[in-house]
Amino acid sequence: MRPETAMQSQVMALLDEFRLIAGDPFVVTDPAVMHAYGHDETETLHYQPDIVIRPRTAEQVSAIMKLCNQHRIPVTPRGAGTGLSGGALPHLGGVVISTDRMNSILDIDEMNGTVTTEPGVITEVLQDAVKKKNLFYPPDPSSRGSCFIGGNIAENSGGPKAVKYGVVRDYVLNLEIVLPTGEIIWTGANVRKNSTGYNLTQLIVGSEGTLALVTKIVLKLIPLPKFDLLMLVPFHSLEKAGQAVSAIFREGFTPSALELVEIDALKITARFIGNSPVPVTDEMEAHLIIEVDGNDQEQMLREMEAIAAILENYEAGEIFFADNEQQKSELWKLRRRVAEAVKLEGYTMEEDTVVPRGQLPALIRGVKQLGELHQFHAVCYGHAGDGNLHIRIKKEGISDSLDNPEMTALLRALFTLVKGLGGTISGEHGIGLVQKGFMDIVMSRTHMRLMREIKQAFDPNNILNTGKIFDAL
Ligand code: LAC
Ligand code: ZN
Repeated sequence: MRPETAMQSQVMALLDEFRLIAGDPFVVTDPAVMHAYGHDETETLHYQPDIVIRPRTAEQVSAIMKLCNQHRIPVTPRGAGTGLSGGALPHLGGVVISTDRMNSILDIDEMNGTVTTEPGVITEVLQDAVKKKNLFYPPDPSSRGSCFIGGNIAENSGGPKAVKYGVVRDYVLNLEIVLPTGEIIWTGANVRKNSTGYNLTQLIVGSEGTLALVTKIVLKLIPLPKFDLLMLVPFHSLEKAGQAVSAIFREGFTPSALELVEIDALKITARFIGNSPVPVTDEMEAHLIIEVDGNDQEQMLREMEAIAAILENYEAGEIFFADNEQQKSELWKLRRRVAEAVKLEGYTMEEDTVVPRGQLPALIRGVKQLGELHQFHAVCYGHAGDGNLHIRIKKEGISDSLDNPEMTALLRALFTLVKGLGGTISGEHGIGLVQKGFMDIVMSRTHMRLMREIKQAFDPNNILNTGKIFDAL
């Protein structure tokens, strides 16, 4: 047994009070059980919490928060733990508040096209529930089958459909939040337009759990498109695939997904999944996955054909049209499981770069050059239509990017390139722990000061997810 740390003693002194608030079975102190709460999907990082509490209501969250605020105990909010920037990692120990029991969809308002939900609902469960009413909540991160909607709010997640439908931010109307001081407020109103004061709703979206813990969410919904068409297009050259992406938009088309997967990533994932009927054309450098959706099938077919004709100018290979629902779901499975598959192959570090879409070829070229210079392997994939390129990095002998001078040098070079191309360092995964050391590349001191002052206004004692996005004041 290791000796108890000062933090552990402090937390254990409050154990009875935590149990009184949340109920005995929902206060976890068993180290083996808590182990799972010490990591998310970020690299290979793990930090053991001192206690995990699983409240059911906003009032319970408030009581926990008040206690922690009074005793200056760090609190880390946690959803499903699928994050890729370390937002849910309890790197300072202390209390993890898990939202997994706050998992009810409270109301689907068909009249007004909104849904009110708790944060611990799995994104796909929410999507399926509104789909039954012919309504559509488009943001669909790859992890949608396991991630929580609350985590999506915290990170302002995106996913393949963002290219046509926008990201999480575009659907959030109103939030019930618990402040680090324990106060509970609604940030907005359940309306589609709102010019009433500072937009605290949108400030909370993407704030990575550093300002407040979200306990209820009101989302805007849109009509569900009736049909979609999907194709997989191989390209001889990765750069040409990047160029083709811009051409599609220039010609006036907005696909409902426009994804790019480099061949190594596709091969690794195909092997990982096994038995996929989706063809992976070996000698090609990259594939685009292109989807169009809508209500008029004939028009959609014409659109697909027109897009295919554009791609011929970029040395595309033979196109695979997913003919039925099974082929479509196989192809999406292949795409959605890339991160998981390549991580198991040693590509443990994932960057979430985003550039203006026309700069995608320059970014891809730059990544390859940096790979030679800094001796790392990279596989690129992601949301090409948004200029959002995930770069998975494998470097001999290194499994995480924290406090590693070689990785720091490499990532500074990469992010400087991204900044030079007019981009930024995260498109949809957030900054969390692993990117915070690079914020100076993309943000001025004034910008950082304003963000720290906002943090202070919400969290005067610096208890809530402190040390994520930036080091606190
Ligand atoms: C994806 C996740 C990792 O695009 O963002 O697969
Ligand atoms: Zn992504």
